[in-house]
Amino acid sequence: MDNFKFKSIVSNGTGEIKDIAIIDKNINDLPVGDVLIKVAYSGLNYKDALSARGHLGITKKYPHTPGIDLSGVVVDSKNQNFQSGTKVLVTGYDLGMNTSGGFQEFVKVPSDWVVKLPKNLTLKQAMIYGTAGFTSALAFNRFATVGIDKNSGKLLITGATGGVGILSIAIAKKIGYHTVASTGKLELSELLLELGANEVIDRNSIIDETKRPLLSRNWKFVIENAGGITLNSVIRSLDKGGAVAIIGNVTGDEIHTSVYPFLLRGIALLGIESAETNMELRLSLWDKLANDWRINNFEKIHKTISLEEVPNELGKILGGTQSQKVVVAIDESLDK
Ligand SMILES: NC(=O)c1ccc[n+]([C@@H]2O[C@H](COP(=O)([O-])OP(=O)(O)OC[C@H]3O[C@@H](n4cnc5c(N)ncnc54)[C@H](OP(=O)(O)O)[C@@H]3O)[C@@H](O)[C@H]2O)c1
Repeated sequence: MDNFKFKSIVSNGTGEIKDIAIIDKNINDLPVGDVLIKVAYSGLNYKDALSARGHLGITKKYPHTPGIDLSGVVVDSKNQNFQSGTKVLVTGYDLGMNTSGGFQEFVKVPSDWVVKLPKNLTLKQAMIYGTAGFTSALAFNRFATVGIDKNSGKLLITGATGGVGILSIAIAKKIGYHTVASTGKLELSELLLELGANEVIDRNSIIDETKRPLLSRNWKFVIENAGGITLNSVIRSLDKGGAVAIIGNVTGDEIHTSVYPFLLRGIALLGIESAETNMELRLSLWDKLANDWRINNFEKIHKTISLEEVPNELGKILGGTQSQKVVVAIDESLDK
């Protein structure tokens, strides 16, 4: 395969999404790794948009191919566990950050990043979940570990129309939470309700700019994607013994709070880190996503785009106008 050429999205990290382009790469341009994968699907994530634009906190060296997750089929491998023809998925680790990522037809990765596709999922369904669904599964797993009864109060999901948000709604429905979806896109309320939200609210309605240390006890659980003032407000609105899973920083990366929600309500802040999740937990959560927590609405929750459409669709993420889970179809025939 030495001189084999394939299509790849490349960013030069100029600060402008419009500068990313599709080029022909040679298979020898791929990094060191013991598993070569033909990519079937990737997905769009907030981190991909930052990496594509040029964000040195995420990607240090350009030119670079973003794409922090993918599903596909092994075409060459030095590891017995992943023989040619095996259907696999990869999320996290260094994929798409400083290792050439999923927005291309082939990738090479270390075998200890690779997960065999769970029996009950197609390659496409695995990427409808993608990093977003896996991260959401981590949050639900943490809630269970803390031991709060899921029937003891409401679950608030912020950034509800984004990837993590929308998948959290669908998974929460399956597990049996009472879910309140907070969004800046009320025009998508019907979809959020159909996917499993019990209520939809305007994201501005949960924000409190005062310095009051405690607010009404509205939420037992929060899946928090926004950060900034949203996180600050929900910490003060948690019920006694409630917990917030801190996932994102779309609007801010600092936490400002007092000790009172902790001292007077015993709340918990749960940090969620998906990229380096150990393999044992990773496999058990993918099994849950394929079976017990399997969502009902794979079709309604996502839209499919081509590699050519990636730049424009990443731009929508940075502009705050993207919604739903966006799946990139690179070789759909691999799912057959
Ligand atoms: N911790 C981890 O391991 C991990 C894993 C995956 C993602 N993340 C992080 O989680 C966050 C969400 O990721 P994603 O891939 O789901 O992103 P996404 O698809 O771009 O969704 C982000 C959502 O945030 C909401 N939002 C946008 N601007 C906002 C504003 N000004 N105020 C409040 N909400 C706003 C929007 O939802 P509405 O319009 O519905 O409000 C938007 O759809 C990102 O920060 C990402 O880096 C972390």
